[in-house]
Parts: sequence; structure tokens; C-alpha cells
Amino acid sequence: MNGSTVHVNGSKGYHKGTNGTNGTKKNGHNVSEMISHTNGLSFDDVQATADMLLSMTSHRPKIGIICGSGLGGLVEMLKDTYSIKYEDVPNFPVSTAPGHVGRLVFGELSGKTCICMQGRTHMYEGYPMWKVVFPIRVMKAMGVEILIATNAAGGLNETYKVGDLMIFKDHLNLPGMAGLNPLIGPNDEKFGPRFPALSDAYDKELSAMGKKAAAELGYDFVHEGVYCVQSGPCFETIAECRMLRILGADVTGMSTVPEVMTGRHCGLRCFAMTLVTNMVVCDYNSTEIADSDEVLETGRMRSKDCQNLITKLVDMINLKSA
Ligand code: HPA
Repeated sequence: MNGSTVHVNGSKGYHKGTNGTNGTKKNGHNVSEMISHTNGLSFDDVQATADMLLSMTSHRPKIGIICGSGLGGLVEMLKDTYSIKYEDVPNFPVSTAPGHVGRLVFGELSGKTCICMQGRTHMYEGYPMWKVVFPIRVMKAMGVEILIATNAAGGLNETYKVGDLMIFKDHLNLPGMAGLNPLIGPNDEKFGPRFPALSDAYDKELSAMGKKAAAELGYDFVHEGVYCVQSGPCFETIAECRMLRILGADVTGMSTVPEVMTGRHCGLRCFAMTLVTNMVVCDYNSTEIADSDEVLETGRMRSKDCQNLITKLVDMINLKSA
């Protein structure tokens, strides 16, 4: 998949030297070689994809929404839609996971212009990290200010139940701590700073709105907690689940954190929400086995509630540019 990069409008990307780094040495390193192993797409590539999308629709989205496993039905709430398959968008990674349609859908939600990713890509599909997060940078280049990410996860917190929702208070990034981070590699300040802070990863105002929206809808199954990302595709071992609990994680899943880190890097305000689709197995006497069909089935069961909550949240949002 590394070799599948398609550049648009003759834009060539960092590794071909659009920003003057072609073959240059920096601190004794061959920069073009470093780049080809890391951030494969340049600011110009991002901008070119954004410009192409903007030329295809009159929508000017301010809110980007990632619809995770089984939550793609949210796009049915959009009015006046324009959609395009990922495979038709230059440089976009194409979703291969079950339950991920793989379409960008522009439209109006609660009177605000949104762009929805109906399905995402994950590390476990084999995409390099910079490719998984490319759509987030494209959203920013299109004028998006706020990122709303949804996903499915396994519940670790013993007070949670299948079908509960959890608003992200924070995350634990196990792949990141082990050296798998989409921001590794040469940093282009046009995207954001070399060392982005993440103590404010999840926007407090947006989280408060999410909780208020849940209360107004009468949802008593919404928590706020800590999400732990792991690379997948395997579900966790019992020992790993026990470790994650000790580390302070309330749920665990295989997505979202790379997108949020990239969103924060380029200045998006981020909100994320998990649907607890299964409880992880923490007991050696248990006969329960994690199963991806259960994930999709719970997604379908809670689909309408998730849609209502995100619709209400979007309604409450005050855009800085409005
Ligand atoms: N583990 C990891 N990812 C998941 C799970 C899980 O139990 N459920 C849904 N996504």
C-alpha cells in the first residue's frame, strides 16, 4: 500500500522535493530518505486534495465527523448531501474493515455544514500512519474547525455495560509510546508544531456539550472516561486487559487516537465518543470470546441513539468563524 500513492495536479510530495528537501542533508541525514519512510504526503498534496473536493461541491464544511464501526448511519441525518467514494479521492486511504463504507459525505446537520467520513482506516489494515490521518489534514485544509470522532470499543471499566457510550476525557496511546505515531518524521510547521501538546487533546467545552446533550436526551448510559488505543487486529489477551485496567483505561479500541493527535497538531478542536460494543474478557474462567460481529450488532442497536446525540451536539456548537 505504501506504493499506491497518487499525487494530484502534478503535486509531488515531500519526497520528490516540493519544499526544497530533495536529496538534501540535514544534520548528516538524507532528508528525502527519511521522508519516504515517514510522512509521504506534503502540505501541497493535502491542499490539492482539499481544493479538488471543494471544486466538486458548494459545501464549505466547518465540522468533520468520523463515523466509526457500525455508526455510519449518521450520514442519514445529513440534508442536501454530496458524496464521493474514498477510492475517487486522490491519496485517500480506502476502508477495508467490515462496517466501514468508505465514503465522504458533505451535508447539513443541525443547520451546520459538515463533512462525514462514513468509515475510517486503521493501522491494522496495513496503511502507514501518515496515510490513516491524511483525511484529517484534508478536512483542515477545507476549513474544518472541529473534529468529532466516533468508534467502537471494548469495555474495561466494570461499571460499563454493552451499549453504553463514553465521551473521551483522555487517552492512552500504546502504539505511540512504542514509536508508532503519525507525527513521527520531518515536521512541516505549515501543519503544526514539532512538539504538540496533548494535555488538552479533548476540548472541555465540547465534552461538556456532549454531556449536556446526553442529559437533555435522557440518556443515562453515557460516561466520560479514558480510551486506550492498541494497534489491533487481535483483540486483547486477558493479561493485557488486566494491565489496561491497572493503567486507568475505561475502554480499549483500535482507532481514533491517530486522528485526534493529527487534528490537534493542526489546531482542530476535538471531541470523541465510543460505543461500548462488548465487554473485554478479564477472567480466565470466562467462556466469552471477543467477536467482531458483536461489535457491528451493538453498533446497529445503538445507531439511532448515537445519531441523536451527535446531532444535538452539533446543534449546540458555536463555530468560531460563524
Ligand atoms: N478490543 C479492541 N477493539 C475493540 C473492541 C475490543 O474489545 N471492541 C470493539 N473494538
